[in-house]
Amino acid sequence: MRPAHPRIVLGLHRSRHGRRLLTRALELGVQAIDTGSNYLDFQSHRTLANVASDLLPRLTVSTKVGYFPGAQHSLAPDRLRRATERAASDLGREPDVVFLHNPEHSLTEATRDDLLEAACSTLADACAQGLCDRWGISSWDPRLLVIPAEGELPRPDVLMTRAGLLVSADILDAAERLAERLRPREAWGMSPFGGSTADAVWDRFDPRIFLREPRTSTPIQAAFRAAYRLPSVSAVAVGTDNPGHLGELTDALDLELDDHMIQQYRELLRARSQPV
Ligand SMILES: NC(=O)c1ccc[n+]([C@@H]2O[C@H](COP(=O)([O-])OP(=O)(O)OC[C@H]3O[C@@H](n4cnc5c(N)ncnc54)[C@H](OP(=O)(O)O)[C@@H]3O)[C@@H](O)[C@H]2O)c1
Repeated sequence: MRPAHPRIVLGLHRSRHGRRLLTRALELGVQAIDTGSNYLDFQSHRTLANVASDLLPRLTVSTKVGYFPGAQHSLAPDRLRRATERAASDLGREPDVVFLHNPEHSLTEATRDDLLEAACSTLADACAQGLCDRWGISSWDPRLLVIPAEGELPRPDVLMTRAGLLVSADILDAAERLAERLRPREAWGMSPFGGSTADAVWDRFDPRIFLREPRTSTPIQAAFRAAYRLPSVSAVAVGTDNPGHLGELTDALDLELDDHMIQQYRELLRARSQPV
């Protein structure tokens, strides 16, 4: 068996939640899965408990609250609290991490400071009471997540934002500013392929230019590895339902990045985002 690869989080957003994939993940040393209360049509937690209750104790499970049936987003503390309790009971165990799921969708200019603070405190309290081990914020668009004055929010354990070569300069900058303000204990990336490796964009360039030794990998592996620096994160939540693909991703963790090329790419993105 390979050594643990804590830096990959197997994302279940698009997954059929098959047992074979989870078994293979553990064989490959991938010990973290990321789900959400709304994944698999709100059945993800129960499905995991049904198909893999014996595997769950060996996995670190992160999940998200804040999306409710009927496409509603809410940061109402009582709803977040109930959703966290429900996650634990549906999974048959407390989640390791509970994220606020895209809290930017529930914040308006007038309410955002109080609502966000109350939502963060709700999850911090839930952890203190043993309903989860850690809490965090998962934000698809951190540009919209303007946070109140420094020190007014509880410090999250994990901040998860989009990562990778398809992320625009303004999202990357916003994610980094947010991390500076919130000072999370860990920064995770997500969606390193922007949701699909079948998109035509991946045929238009070769991400191996970002590696020190391009010949040892595939373009998909290079794109995945580069995601750990755009922005700098210690783990990336990536989706696959294909155990062979997961093996390719774990192999990519050892690839060495060309720092200079990554830096140049950031500068290029910034230059493109400046108005002419
Ligand atoms: N706001 C949020 O909180 C939020 C939003 C989005 C995502 N996320 C998290 O991030 C995770 C990943 O996001 P995502 O699934 O949307 O996007 P993604 O990881 O960027 O892309 C997933 C796609 O990449 C393909 N892929 C993966 N490895 C591959 C390989 N080695 N070769 C070829 N294709 C490969 C998968 O196809 P195959 O199945 O065929 O391998 C899948 O279709 C989610 O599951 C979730 O945990 C969170």
